[in-house]
Amino acid sequence: MSLTYQSGFGNEFASEALAGALPVGRNSPQKAPYGLYAEQISGTAFTAPRGANRRSWLYRIRPAALHGGFAPLALPRFHNDFGAGPVTPEQLRWDPLPLPEAPTDWLEGLFTMAGNGGPEQGSGVGIHLYAANRDMAGRYFYDADGELLIVPQQGRLRIATEMGVLELEPQEIAVIPRGIRFSVALPDGAARGYVCENFGALLKLPDLGPIGSNGLANPRDFLAPLAAYEDREGDFQLVSKFQGHLWSAPIGHSPLDVVGWHGNYTPYKYDLRRFNTIGSISYDHPDPSIFLVLHSPSDTPGTSNMDFVIFPPRILAMQDTFRPPWFHRNIASEFMGLVHGEYDAKAEGFVPGGASLHNSFTGHGPDAGTFEKASNADLSRPTVIRETMAFMFETRHVLRPVRQAIDAAHRQTGYRDCWQGLARHFSPEKR
Ligand SMILES: [Fe+2]
Repeated sequence: MSLTYQSGFGNEFASEALAGALPVGRNSPQKAPYGLYAEQISGTAFTAPRGANRRSWLYRIRPAALHGGFAPLALPRFHNDFGAGPVTPEQLRWDPLPLPEAPTDWLEGLFTMAGNGGPEQGSGVGIHLYAANRDMAGRYFYDADGELLIVPQQGRLRIATEMGVLELEPQEIAVIPRGIRFSVALPDGAARGYVCENFGALLKLPDLGPIGSNGLANPRDFLAPLAAYEDREGDFQLVSKFQGHLWSAPIGHSPLDVVGWHGNYTPYKYDLRRFNTIGSISYDHPDPSIFLVLHSPSDTPGTSNMDFVIFPPRILAMQDTFRPPWFHRNIASEFMGLVHGEYDAKAEGFVPGGASLHNSFTGHGPDAGTFEKASNADLSRPTVIRETMAFMFETRHVLRPVRQAIDAAHRQTGYRDCWQGLARHFSPEKR
């Protein structure tokens, strides 16, 4: 099945699965059409400035208040316990999270890697991987702590949300706002990918400054779902992530029972292959902020809580320039993943599904093989990088890798060896 969507970023959308489900002229009439309940969900403060205000009105079979009592749910691999002890400044890298052998749904398949801040502070991120092999049958989830930026690497996801269905394949992303209930099915069986749980301000498109009115991720390529509802009753489970822990409540009906909705607080998807990549056409590289897709601003102007940056296919034509990403150290902390193909700063070891973490002021950059190759490359022709899709969750605060990530069998303990072969080239006699 191929779905259609509503196009735009943060628009005032409106969608009804039954004609006339949306009231006209008021949000909360005395009686909503079809005997539906009217319910508002607000993702920002009521008084947030108009341009930043996000809320939607849902017209549903039963209101969200109707469910059984919550009890703690133990899924110990998924948490926000980032610790307060020492953090290694070492460069870290991982192989892909192995696919599970036991039946594991998307929620059960989440594996926390690192994070900072938390839901109580309302800033920072949690970074998780997932590896799963079965649908969330009869199980619905919402995250009250952060919006979820989902980056599939292997296998499609069918994300049924209160506001409609998002179908997602690798090289696409989805964002599920805080509080929105959803369930994930796996059309291809096995699925693996990355999740950034954003505790800070809602993700937004960056301003473009001198770039002008077009470029990078264009608003029209962001897609919100059309209303689609489940009118199902049964013994289901509603899972809430609340203040870093999971809770489970019985629910006798599908909470995805919204027949119509309007507003600008919505899940959405975006195809990373539509990114309009901009770079130098003379010499040097711009900073990687030129590859910014979405960011969560902080209270400090120009400093993000989190940046989502991609390294998509591109043409490198810069002259007298070391064309791969340069050696660098940043105040920011960088968690990288690879969705597809190869990343041009690493000859080997960083594979699709893998990950790396370079924390604040930890030196990193091309490995020895890449440095030698690029330093001697023929620059008379452009370098065309076709098969790649790397990304970075870059954060203002240090990312604290959690114990299970440090101890994981898929961590590459010899990662720093990739730089040990960097030869000394310095000669004071030879300029
Ligand atoms: Fe970096």
